[in-house]
Amino acid sequence: MHYLRGFFLVDISHRLIDISYRRMYEELNAKNEEFEKILIKLRGDESLSTKNIISVDDMTVDDIKLIFRITMPFKEEFIHRPQKKIPILKGKSIINFFVEDSTRTKVSFELAGKNLSADTINISKSGSSMSKKGETLNDTARTLQSMQADCIILRHYAAGASRLISTQITAPVINAGDGWHEHPTQALLDAYTICDVLGTCIDKKIVIVGDILHSRVAGSLMRILTKLKARVIISGPPTMIPVHAEEVFGVEYDPDLDHAIRDADVIYALRIQLERAASAYIPTVREYSKRYCINMARLRLAKKDAMVMHPGPINREVDLSTEVMESRQSYVEEQVTNGYALRMALLYLLIQPTPESVDKITKIRPSRKVLDKLQKKEKDRGNVVSSQKYFDGSAEQVY
Ligand code: NCD
Repeated sequence: MHYLRGFFLVDISHRLIDISYRRMYEELNAKNEEFEKILIKLRGDESLSTKNIISVDDMTVDDIKLIFRITMPFKEEFIHRPQKKIPILKGKSIINFFVEDSTRTKVSFELAGKNLSADTINISKSGSSMSKKGETLNDTARTLQSMQADCIILRHYAAGASRLISTQITAPVINAGDGWHEHPTQALLDAYTICDVLGTCIDKKIVIVGDILHSRVAGSLMRILTKLKARVIISGPPTMIPVHAEEVFGVEYDPDLDHAIRDADVIYALRIQLERAASAYIPTVREYSKRYCINMARLRLAKKDAMVMHPGPINREVDLSTEVMESRQSYVEEQVTNGYALRMALLYLLIQPTPESVDKITKIRPSRKVLDKLQKKEKDRGNVVSSQKYFDGSAEQVY
């Protein structure tokens, strides 16, 4: 199965998971090279062009390709091991700072960090000094930095929160969802899932349906899919579509889902964000589901083997029918697995491995110079200014 899928990828995925890297991986894997050596070889001397993962806008197509390339061995080999542990981030500390609820994102980041041997620490608002003692988000981030955190993963209810803390600290910041704004690692894993199955995103017809307005997943997904040259159609009640979405995101809007879905390669359903007052934007949930729930009858309008995706959590019979969820066209669980593998790749690429672990494994020194150069570039770009641009929540909201 893997081999067949691998073969399929070799055949047509040259644009995103480069054919030569896939061959290299298959040869190394067949020779049973140590996993860490495979990673080093696949990475070559490349690093991400950004220190933080805050918005898809910060990433180049080359960054995305590099992340996908490193995800490949994690997905196809590592996560199937009976014992999932490598010392690549030994001695590093990763803070999972989740001010909003999460299952998939939080657990996969924590597992990913632990599998790479980093020390992962979870904090939330309740139980921290932010809760009753009134410590600000910035001061909390600086406190974590003072304990030499090597990476901070932040989920927050205010748009711009990750950008804001990234201006205060030197450790890489990963945005695990900021308000209605973005959720870049979800978009990366979704694009990876599409490329893994269809070979490429280029010219694929991808329909995103639901509460586009309140969905940070849609925010990042529209950005990444257009960057990867897919044809993106959004559908949903007009009240749930951001103003000027077509111009801003380079997508098409079709309120008629049955029309939009025709010949689609991928149908991506979103959850109505009831906790973000979404019920005020639709007459009733029942009427919404009648027009926008993906059921078997609707699915038949799309291409024969169209992929059905959803970031989770799912409102059954509102976003997706149970029958569709359980059909072979549903990739919802595959998305979760890919997210776990991709987050390992991302942590590996963002956090510099310790010289000891790298020495022990590969005898190759980590490229300190490259990281120093990147940090300087980030500083030169004047992040303080750009953070304002993305900060569309009020200061009170963030603090
Ligand atoms: C999403 C989120 O929290 O942004 N879930 C996720 O991270 N997989 C989507 C949602 O809540 O609807």
